[in-house]
Amino acid sequence: MIQARRAADAFSASRGSAPHGVWSAPGRVNLIGEHTDYNDGFVLPFALPHRIAVAAAPRSDGVLSVATLGDDGRLRQAAPIAVADLEPGAVTGWAAYPAGVAWVLRDEGVAAGADLVVAGDLPAGAGLSSSHALECAVALALLGLAGRSPDDEPGRAGVARWVRRAENDFVGAPTGLLDQTASLCCVEAHVLFLDVRSGKAEQVPFDAAAHGLEVLVVDTRSSHSHTDGGYGARRAGCEEAAGLLGVPALRDVPPDGLADALDRLPGRLRPLVRHVVTEDERVLRAVEVLRAGGLADLGPLLTASHASLRDDYRVSVEELDVAVAAALAAGALGARMVGGGFGGSVIALVPVEAHGTVVRAVLDAFAERGLPVPRTFTGVPSAGAGRDF
Ligand code: GLA
Repeated sequence: MIQARRAADAFSASRGSAPHGVWSAPGRVNLIGEHTDYNDGFVLPFALPHRIAVAAAPRSDGVLSVATLGDDGRLRQAAPIAVADLEPGAVTGWAAYPAGVAWVLRDEGVAAGADLVVAGDLPAGAGLSSSHALECAVALALLGLAGRSPDDEPGRAGVARWVRRAENDFVGAPTGLLDQTASLCCVEAHVLFLDVRSGKAEQVPFDAAAHGLEVLVVDTRSSHSHTDGGYGARRAGCEEAAGLLGVPALRDVPPDGLADALDRLPGRLRPLVRHVVTEDERVLRAVEVLRAGGLADLGPLLTASHASLRDDYRVSVEELDVAVAAALAAGALGARMVGGGFGGSVIALVPVEAHGTVVRAVLDAFAERGLPVPRTFTGVPSAGAGRDF
């Protein structure tokens, strides 16, 4: 609500009238299930309390105008553009995210001109899905201005697919469905167990505090982007491997068929396949652990996920490895990088009483290596996207 208030106040101050409404969407961490979404597999995210809010009012001239409130309290205004003129490549930089959503919604017969003012407390490039939170909040705002709710047809899962199209085809980042679905569909106090292929989603209760635990988030401040080649290359490798194996997606390689599948692949593709197949399996085991109520047993699964992302998928970087190692050495039960990698954040499952020790150990490890001071906070499963007022 704080971000919604900030967006509304900035809107009123700069536009001279109150917004029609304010909508907001959260960032996420993914408990486990990384680089499985575009392989038709399983993910297990929860929404963070950090949000991006969009204060919005309709415009009668068909123009999309977007401004964002900086930490310094100043508005940065993107060049206004007619919604009718939107096409991939027409808008670059951060403004491509809201513009891409307006482009998709225009094709869906929804968007007209709008005045948007954005405020949020999700750091960009931290692997916590700030770009998807922005896109989801813009989607809800534009739908809302058209008198529609995300729960109308095609529903939140449908809005997530629109946002993916904006991201893939307008922004040019070949990402999957994890982040938008998390932002739109997560609910407080739960993780979302999503089967990406079928779209079947289950809210699984997740109350770390009741077990004397917390999910510590470490934003390493090593920023990343998924519009450059690393992410796309991994994705292309997975698709090539699935083609060679004659399956629709790597989801279709069963764990007990993994050794045989690896034998049939060139060496360069084997680690990618090993990661995806074992990671899907780890998600299913994590859900079993949660259902059985033994949260501490998640620890080894998280750490195994990190090793697989580091050694097989090769999307980790020094900062992420340092944070994971320091957290584990200081008493975390498990730790892993989250999101696409190449920078970003780590989560660690930490006994509440060890919070200070683990944070201190991570800060010390970064200081020793001359790395930037990381930002830490406790990740509490929070509400998904919606209208604030
Ligand atoms: C990024 C993408 C997601 C997903 C993750 C890795 O966050 O946006 O679709 O692929 O990386 O799990």
